[in-house]
Amino acid sequence: MPRQLITHQKIAEHVARLGELYPPISLDSVDRTILRPDLVAAKFGNVIDYLARVELEVDRNVLELLVLLPDVDDTNKTFYSDVWQPQEIQHGLILDRLQQDLGRSAAAPHLELSFKIKILGALASLKPIQDIAKLLYFLTGASTERQAVLAYNRINTGLRELGETAISETIITPIKQQEPGHFAFYQMSATAMIQDKVLNPWQLFLTRVLRERSYNLVGTNNMRQYKGDMCGVAIDLGLNADLEGYAREIGRVESRLLWAHKQGMDFPPYILTALRESVELYQERIARGMAFA
Ligand SMILES: [Fe+2]
Ligand SMILES: [Fe+2]
Repeated sequence: MPRQLITHQKIAEHVARLGELYPPISLDSVDRTILRPDLVAAKFGNVIDYLARVELEVDRNVLELLVLLPDVDDTNKTFYSDVWQPQEIQHGLILDRLQQDLGRSAAAPHLELSFKIKILGALASLKPIQDIAKLLYFLTGASTERQAVLAYNRINTGLRELGETAISETIITPIKQQEPGHFAFYQMSATAMIQDKVLNPWQLFLTRVLRERSYNLVGTNNMRQYKGDMCGVAIDLGLNADLEGYAREIGRVESRLLWAHKQGMDFPPYILTALRESVELYQERIARGMAFA
């Protein structure tokens, strides 16, 4: 079925709507009642720590965007400066306070730009490379926001089952409502680039090569410690039971946009490779007697 044409106007309207519908969540709106802190910490402490850190890393994500896309257009600028960053930083601050209410230490976000980003940023001053960097940026956004949606859905169900209504209703539900809009922005932006044929065949080829070599699960920052943590999070959320199904979910956008010519490819194999690597690192840790490093 042919998909609807994604116009720049449509993306701009989506961004404006997100800004109107979802003001950043204030710390004061949160009900800090926790019925059984020890139980919440035991079941979801590691997940909350992970999510808090990743949300607080939005400031590094903004730096990455500015390095990769120095000529960013007005819609992208409005999205990251008026919608996305103000929303995500509140997610981080609220979850960080929650983890401390649970008796855990404050988040330590990783705010350094990686060497790879600096190199790609230097190359991105060339227009053909900038377009490749842009598509990679949108695909990364779509995959990571989808992972956020799935994680918040799962943790919300778990907290409701525990009867932790205050956390569920005043923290996770409001955060969870804001993530699908982010996902839609990146998905629409990436789709528009393919549909408008912004990249020629060699640029698309290079995008595929770079994506295959640089794919990372959300918040792992290509670091062993976080990759291992990620598997622990997936286990606590029950996402590990069907890794292939999870890979399909988080790889759907790029499957459609980058790999449509590959008949029978259910999801890009590098996503399952990343998930399996995360499982291996976690198992190594268990073998050494420590689940979370
Ligand atoms: Fe978020
Ligand atoms: Fe988000």
